[in-house]
Amino acid sequence: MRAVEIERLSWDSAFFSKRIGRLRPDPDRETDLRRVADLDRSGFDCLYVELDVAAADLLDRWLALGARVMDVRAELSAVVGEAAPVAAASEVEGLSVWSESDRQDAAALAEDLSRWSRFARDPALRDSAARLYGHWLELAISGAHEALVWRAGGHIVGLLTFRSEADDAWIELLDIHESHRGQGIALALMRAFLARAHRDGRTRANVRTQLRNLRAVHAYERAGFRIGRVTLVLHWWSH
Ligand SMILES: CC(C)(COP(=O)(O)OP(=O)(O)OC[C@H]1O[C@@H](n2cnc3c(N)ncnc32)[C@H](O)[C@@H]1OP(=O)(O)O)[C@@H](O)C(=O)NCCC(=O)NCCS
Repeated sequence: MRAVEIERLSWDSAFFSKRIGRLRPDPDRETDLRRVADLDRSGFDCLYVELDVAAADLLDRWLALGARVMDVRAELSAVVGEAAPVAAASEVEGLSVWSESDRQDAAALAEDLSRWSRFARDPALRDSAARLYGHWLELAISGAHEALVWRAGGHIVGLLTFRSEADDAWIELLDIHESHRGQGIALALMRAFLARAHRDGRTRANVRTQLRNLRAVHAYERAGFRIGRVTLVLHWWSH
């Protein structure tokens, strides 16, 4: 029988100072079910186990091994060019590009967003969740990724960062300050992002979010995104 492959995640391992691996068993292959018990997990402190939402047998096995469900991840995508372009003046009035003085406001938004993440749910990684989201923000600030911001009263109250890869554009961070939610700012930022992706020749826009974050799912659907795959993400720890 072919050895089970656990993907060693060197970036995550270095960032969290733990030996971290990832496993994506294929629910269509019966052998994967048998292999779970035989896995050589000795070289890892933590495994991220990604399961199809319908893989009940595999879920039972991992729960029996002590893994915990950290996330029900929804992947959403939209066809770029089909969504409505930015229209009303109210949809662009706060829209702005990044400036260095925004760093503190943006860091607070990224930290707020980190509370939704599977890392913040895991007691062993919780302390590093905000640092991880700070890292994503730095990628946008440094120009490796890009940022759109919404300005009101001299402050940044909305942040959307994204990256692009071939035909695809990916939303990385999206957060609206609590005091400004429900006013259409997320929708306006997403429309600006989609217009930008269109201009840059991208054909598909993507985002990952937690299915339990219904408000975010609703906002993405309102902007033209549709749910594709739903994945259970478990964390298994060796201790
Ligand atoms: C999710 C989030 C980005 C939405 O931002 P927002 O600016 O409030 O959203 P918008 O005002 O543009 O609204 C978009 C849709 O969400 C709906 N919505 C707004 N406030 C809502 C609320 N309190 N409850 C439920 N739905 C709400 C709006 O009704 C709108 O849909 P509609 O036009 O069909 O009514 C914002 O709530 C947020 O920052 N949350 C915390 C961080 C987060 O979850 N980020 C996304 C994770 S990937």
